[in-house]
Amino acid sequence: MPTIFGSVLLVALAAGALASPVAEPAITEAPSLAKRATSCTFSGSTGASKASASQKSCSTIILSSVAVPSGTTLDLSDLEDDTTASFIQSPVIFEGETTWGYEEWDGPLLQISGSSITVKGASGAKLNPDGARWWDGEGSNGGKTKPKFFYAHDLTSSTITDLYIENTPVQAVSINGCDGLTITDMTINNEAGDDEGGHNTDGFDIGSSTNVVITGATVYNQDDCVAVNSGTDITFSGGVCSGGHGLSIGSVGGRSDNTVETVTFKDSEVKDSVNGIRIKASAGDIGEITGVTYSGITLSSISKYGILIEQNYDGGDLKGDPTSGIPITDLTVENISGADAVASSGYDVVIVCGSGACSNWTWSDVDVTGGSKYSGCENVPSVTSCS
Ligand SMILES: *[C@@H]1O[C@H](CO)[C@@H](O)[C@H](O)[C@H]1NC(C)=O
Ligand SMILES: *[C@@H]1O[C@H](CO)[C@@H](O)[C@H](O)[C@H]1NC(C)=O
Repeated sequence: MPTIFGSVLLVALAAGALASPVAEPAITEAPSLAKRATSCTFSGSTGASKASASQKSCSTIILSSVAVPSGTTLDLSDLEDDTTASFIQSPVIFEGETTWGYEEWDGPLLQISGSSITVKGASGAKLNPDGARWWDGEGSNGGKTKPKFFYAHDLTSSTITDLYIENTPVQAVSINGCDGLTITDMTINNEAGDDEGGHNTDGFDIGSSTNVVITGATVYNQDDCVAVNSGTDITFSGGVCSGGHGLSIGSVGGRSDNTVETVTFKDSEVKDSVNGIRIKASAGDIGEITGVTYSGITLSSISKYGILIEQNYDGGDLKGDPTSGIPITDLTVENISGADAVASSGYDVVIVCGSGACSNWTWSDVDVTGGSKYSGCENVPSVTSCS
């Protein structure tokens, strides 16, 4: 009996002794935990400025039917970085319809940056910059100055899920300086621009980024669906592209970063578009395009080029003599379905390479027909041909 009594007492004493060192850090952590538990909802015409001002003090930011004033950015580029694993990251959530006022300026209309950021569109949410107010058929080449839509810049270990974007004035999503960004089920619907003067409405422009994964995207637009200008380890899969210029690498060259390495486009569809697959290396420039894969791509209703690979890009396709300063190596093109996909006035496969500048290509199960044979192909690797 006394022995048991003694043990119970010892356990009680031990628990008491342990209690205070455990409690102390909990008290010190409390303000930080409380701050992170704050969920903030912003809406209406003051929502954007209030959200920008409060981004460091809210754990969850809900943007509910925010009306962003003209000439301003919905700026979430200073979000609380959350690189410590001890916190559950809270998201930025778009609800209802987000709108933007009209002004001629460069934008961006939306900017999000940070580490371990989670961005989500709630069910039924829509980001609607009402781009038709700027559309004049000239895109970024002239006419009205049009704001770029979304800068997803300097995002690290972050995700963007379920955003529905409608009618951007010009380019939609710019991905730059990112390391570890996953974009899932994004829709960019600029279909109205087909008839109303939408131009240069690129879906995703990617530069100087690594580990970017875009899955399940739907893009209706009037320029490149995806354009990778530079970057490494980039994957686009399960996407649908319509109305635009297809799945592109480039143009590469003439920027500060001119290296494209390990980029994969797979299991995607390109329809009602000018091109299916296009790799553009700028003539006269220096850089590198290596380890690009196109696999499981289905093409239909392509008006100009089913597959276009060129080292003589010069602001436009197939301009003059190709050069060798941006070699295209370790390219894989496989399982491409495009029987009768190309208009008879278009070309099925066009390859114009500089001398010795296209090597180590793999080309298999490519069935792209309907168009003509291009007579100006040059330095085509022996694994394929332009027929
Ligand atoms: C070819 O691509 C299609 C379309 O993405 C895909 O469903 C199929 O599994 C692929 N076939 C092979 C052999 O990879
Ligand atoms: C050829 O390309 C493949 C990828 O497609 C790569 O794994 C391989 O290392 C390359 N070989 C040479 C000799 O560069």
